[in-house]
Amino acid sequence: MFDAQTACLVVVGAQWGDEGKGKLVDVLAERAHMVVRYQGGANAGHTVVTGDTQFILQQIPSGILHPQVTCIIGNGAVLDPDQLFLELEQLAAKGVDPGGRLFVSDRAHLVLPLHKLLDRASEKSQNIGTTGRGIGPTYEDKYGRRGLRVGDLRRVDGVQAELVERVERGNRLLAMLGSTDRVSLEELRTLLEGWAPKLRPLTADTGLLVHRALQEGRRVLLEGAQGALLDVDHGTYPFVTSSNTTAGGAAVGAGIGPTAIHGALGVVKAYITRVGNGPLPTEARDAAGDRLRELGGEFGAVTGRPRRCGWFDTNVVRYAARVNGLTGLAVTKLDVLDTFDAIPVGVAYQLDGERCGDLPGDVDALGRVQPVYERLPGWQRSTGDARKLADLPKHARGYLDRLEALSGVAVRYVSVGTRRDQIIEVQ
Ligand code: IMP
Repeated sequence: MFDAQTACLVVVGAQWGDEGKGKLVDVLAERAHMVVRYQGGANAGHTVVTGDTQFILQQIPSGILHPQVTCIIGNGAVLDPDQLFLELEQLAAKGVDPGGRLFVSDRAHLVLPLHKLLDRASEKSQNIGTTGRGIGPTYEDKYGRRGLRVGDLRRVDGVQAELVERVERGNRLLAMLGSTDRVSLEELRTLLEGWAPKLRPLTADTGLLVHRALQEGRRVLLEGAQGALLDVDHGTYPFVTSSNTTAGGAAVGAGIGPTAIHGALGVVKAYITRVGNGPLPTEARDAAGDRLRELGGEFGAVTGRPRRCGWFDTNVVRYAARVNGLTGLAVTKLDVLDTFDAIPVGVAYQLDGERCGDLPGDVDALGRVQPVYERLPGWQRSTGDARKLADLPKHARGYLDRLEALSGVAVRYVSVGTRRDQIIEVQ
């Protein structure tokens, strides 16, 4: 589905994040010219495995491992420069040279140490279960029109008054939140002056770069982070991240018009996981949930936190299909289900005595729903070597057919392991 007709494809998570977007983007990037991160920041942890080497990318787009790909951190993303520099070092140590093909938007907002302190201090009362990377407070400053942007590093002297205001305000907020941490103007200035020369060569009007690539007929992937149910508007508010993770956010965050995007690939696990707090209707709070966690290695790539695990929830995916306008699905981690003899699939909810096929917008109602399950037969055979649908056991194909029928979106990719080659492209 990433061809001349769909030259600009957005890849989004259609559950609660961690669906395997990094692997899909890495696989699709083989035929891409450009990969753009358009929202979020170092809260993401996109895992890509090539041969025996594993990369966990938090800031840098997952296309970076392909030497022909230009990577963009767009205006809608938030940038933690220290994390970026760390990833660049890690890539260099593994022989990857992003020289001349990584650009950061001059409009992307900077995540400052203050934001991380505020994130952790807010958690004590809000208890969202954030990643602690300063994401929420950075977006708060952006929408409060007092953020610092990458472009501001071109003139650190020119923003002295804003820095004073920011430090004072930040320290007041920290005190209000009961934190004893404080930030200092000198430390902030030193930090910004250290970042400036390193970021300057990477800084660009990235919307223009994406626009030009599209005008030249190049293939561009827009790489979403987190998932639809963590979207600040469409997710399980307030247990969400602070950006628009859905496909609509891709145009804004990449700096292009919505009509430039030709398709939206929704990535889903063959089951479901969530990190952090908030409702997860099909959570398996039993031995089967533990088994999914163990077999799927379900521990956060950024925080190491154990992920909550459960069964595929079609209400969630149907909803994600609607709010993203999905044109295809990629089902990942099918192999994790290989040893189960029967696999429950959530097909609807019971809410206050009524059957409900959608997602209640109110988090309390979502916390009250009772999932209605259908039990599908397991296949109890390894799927890791399958490279086309016909290689899969009959019941695994039946499982995928059922997910497709229930979700109303065609399955275009199936991932059966962590390696690049462990993927089925449905023809
Ligand atoms: P924040 O994005 O750090 O503010 O965290 C807000 C919520 O989003 C928390 O529940 C996090 O666990 C969740 N979250 C943020 N980033 C990711 C991700 O990349 N994968 C899964 N969950 C995430």
